[in-house]
Amino acid sequence: MNPTGRSVDGSRASSVPLSAPDLCDLDAEAVRRCVADGWVSTAGPHLTAFEDAFAAAVGARSAVAVASGTAALHLALLVAGVGRGDEVWVSDLTFVASANGARYCGADVVLVDSERVTWNLDTAVLCEELDRRARHGRRQPKAVVAVHLLGHPAPLGMLAEACRRHGVTLIEDAAEALGGGWTPPADGSSPVTAGRPCRSVGTIGELGCFSFNGNKMLTTGGGGMVVTDDPELAGRVRHLATQAKLPGLAYDHDLVGFNYRMPALNAALGLGQLARLDRTVEARRAVADRYDAAFSGRAGLTTQPDEAWAYRCGWLSAVLFEDRDRRDLALARLREAGIEARPLWTPLHHLAPYRDCPVLGGGAVATELAERGLCLPSSASLAEADQHRVVAIVRDAVAGAGSGQPIAA
Ligand SMILES: Cc1ncc(COP(=O)(O)O)c(C=O)c1O
Repeated sequence: MNPTGRSVDGSRASSVPLSAPDLCDLDAEAVRRCVADGWVSTAGPHLTAFEDAFAAAVGARSAVAVASGTAALHLALLVAGVGRGDEVWVSDLTFVASANGARYCGADVVLVDSERVTWNLDTAVLCEELDRRARHGRRQPKAVVAVHLLGHPAPLGMLAEACRRHGVTLIEDAAEALGGGWTPPADGSSPVTAGRPCRSVGTIGELGCFSFNGNKMLTTGGGGMVVTDDPELAGRVRHLATQAKLPGLAYDHDLVGFNYRMPALNAALGLGQLARLDRTVEARRAVADRYDAAFSGRAGLTTQPDEAWAYRCGWLSAVLFEDRDRRDLALARLREAGIEARPLWTPLHHLAPYRDCPVLGGGAVATELAERGLCLPSSASLAEADQHRVVAIVRDAVAGAGSGQPIAA
């Protein structure tokens, strides 16, 4: 989706886009300043400032800005030591990039079904399998890529502990979840004020990866970030992202690296939005809360997860219908009205490159969620009047689905 409302498939302009960027004149001014001072490429103060501010915002020791969320995941896996023939376990219900990095490394992908509470990977199944392999002396995966789906954190406590116990690197794919995290403990021991996360997504695993493409919580046009508390890992990510060039004037490279660094122009675009992130999160969470209020308790609709221990960032709001037919009816009617909506991600085990991968937990929950789920307009700038239209169309589709009302072409 682009800000004009044209869908990524280019098929139709939507008057109400799914997820528009939150840009203003200040962002244009930041890019203009970057052009004026000449620091437009992959070095310089804008890039460092963005990395420092991002690390501070999520509470990580280091942040390395890269060209995309996909590049962030690829580099995270490489510095975790993933190579040919290793196993990487990845959430099944996610965007395809969550698994592609493992394949770039030559690793074998094992998918993990969703659980129903948060729609994220089923950590109970995963921990059981790690323990079972340990008991039988079987090889463990090299890494787990845990996705925070649509901005709702995955419950990582038990999983992080199991990964530590079994020597498996936990990588968080927080591409969709910037601004989300875990709520402060109820005992008041956290200094963080209520209503904000006390721990950000991306900071529980050894490495956390974020995306800044055009539809995310914050956009740099295209871009991504790797965060970690381990300065050695951060250094290796930075080194690999810059063609593995050794310091000094000579063109001396000690590895086959990548041209994965984020250009400073993009970093300048991100920096101002980062300063406004709280506002963006608040606005998107308010959109999600309004959908929940409108759909909760309605026959035929199930609202999106919002667990008390989690602080969702509200990136994309979604709702579950009773079945695929009703979901598709609502989708068709929204599109007819010029409103962009999308099904949930297609589970990876249904996609050609990952069809043959084993699925821990079987994949039935991810499949069902994908068939019943619909993502709804969620921009921070979504007008309440437009949201009312979305809600009315969804409710009508549910009410009319059984009465044989035709779907207009
Ligand atoms: C869960 C998830 N992982 C990874 C990515 C890849 O990020 P990028 O598009 O910046 O490469 C995305 C989205 O684009 C995503 O939604």
